[in-house]
Amino acid sequence: MQIRIFALIVAICMSLFPVTSVAQTADAPDVSREATGGAQTLEDILARQRGEVVDNGFRSSDIGNPDSAAAMSDQLGTLGGASDPELWRALRFGTADIRASNNGPAATVLVQDGGMKWLLFREGPLTTYGGYLLIGTLVVLALFFLVRGRIRIDGEKTGRTVERFKAVERFGHWLLAGSFILLGVTGLVSLFGRKVMIPLFGHESFAVLAGASKWIHNNVSWAFMIALVMIFVMWVIHNLPDRTDISWILKGGGIFTKDHPPAKKFNAGQKLIFWSVIVLGASISVSGLALLFPFEINLFAATFEKLNSLGISSLLGLGELPTALAPHEEMQYSQLWHAIVSFVLMAIILAHIYIGSVGMEGAYDAMGSGQVEEQWAREHHALWVDEVKAKESATIKGATPAE
Ligand code: HEM
Repeated sequence: MQIRIFALIVAICMSLFPVTSVAQTADAPDVSREATGGAQTLEDILARQRGEVVDNGFRSSDIGNPDSAAAMSDQLGTLGGASDPELWRALRFGTADIRASNNGPAATVLVQDGGMKWLLFREGPLTTYGGYLLIGTLVVLALFFLVRGRIRIDGEKTGRTVERFKAVERFGHWLLAGSFILLGVTGLVSLFGRKVMIPLFGHESFAVLAGASKWIHNNVSWAFMIALVMIFVMWVIHNLPDRTDISWILKGGGIFTKDHPPAKKFNAGQKLIFWSVIVLGASISVSGLALLFPFEINLFAATFEKLNSLGISSLLGLGELPTALAPHEEMQYSQLWHAIVSFVLMAIILAHIYIGSVGMEGAYDAMGSGQVEEQWAREHHALWVDEVKAKESATIKGATPAE
């Protein structure tokens, strides 16, 4: 009985953490290809299956040369110096002379074997670890809520309010937030549809949902990009790092000590959120545009070339990154990058939504009405309140006629 339970636990663990074969960096040993007339051998295939790197030079350079073709009298020489395998090799390595009535950049690429690698990564680690990241973030936030509870306004409320965000700032924020949430949900529908939603709702219903999600995702992206520019322009000045951030970070923002380290309009934690939204949001936007206009924006070959030449790829243990990418491969990398960065930003934003709503008393008002309780403002943004009050009294003095 105990053995059966143990076996069950092991089986569950294995299904939660699928074992992916780790690619070996070792080169495949030299193979004699005489027996196959220079073509692939069983050793080549087995070496590739073991994850070893098989040098394709013997095939990629063996195209269109009648001298290296099998003689007419040979079993494989019936086409007289040219053969079907030869055509397929040329298709496989992108050197076949293909003409197509469509002039698109990818029209003449008929075989693209990177597609399988991309599909396996998208269906495997991307969905698995992306899903774990979001669920893990929700669990951590729930635990944080249980341990720390709601961050309350400590002092006596004054009954007075201070204007924190103007209408245009709140509009920019909610345009960004609304579009991001729609993009996040529709993006997850596209990614998890096949695995999770088809088994739940069936093909027909999912087809409608997937079509609607794609339409929303493609069109709402513009609202997100506009809002991203808006909040950057409005808030960048308040998010430049300064000395107050150091003491705020050293005191951990006072989250556990219930201390209130002084901050200006945005504290160091908020600055981190702001720059994550700007940098990751911009990166998601650029890779999204590459997906929205297929084959028009190629980002990765040039980036990989830079990473190789600066030695960053080998520093990260990635070896030499490929720099000759087929148009489809550019799209595949864009899709993966778009999804990975989106998962990271979604996790960060879950934490932001928590602290801006249930996590902290008085915070939501800042983006709701735009007016916050003065005591809240003094506890969380003391230096900003001093600035606001100083400006107010300067305006009053300026408006009072001199006696
Ligand atoms: C329902 C969801 C959301 C709620 C309740 C919410 C709430 C808030 C609140 C209350 C503030 C002002 C904090 C303060 O006064 O100091 C704020 C600021 C901000 N929000 Fe949101 N937000 C939401 C979604 C989002 C999303 C999806 C994004 C970006 C994709 C975002 C980006 C920002 C940024 C960059 C700031 C300024 C920096 C900061 O305060 O952290 N928000 N949000």
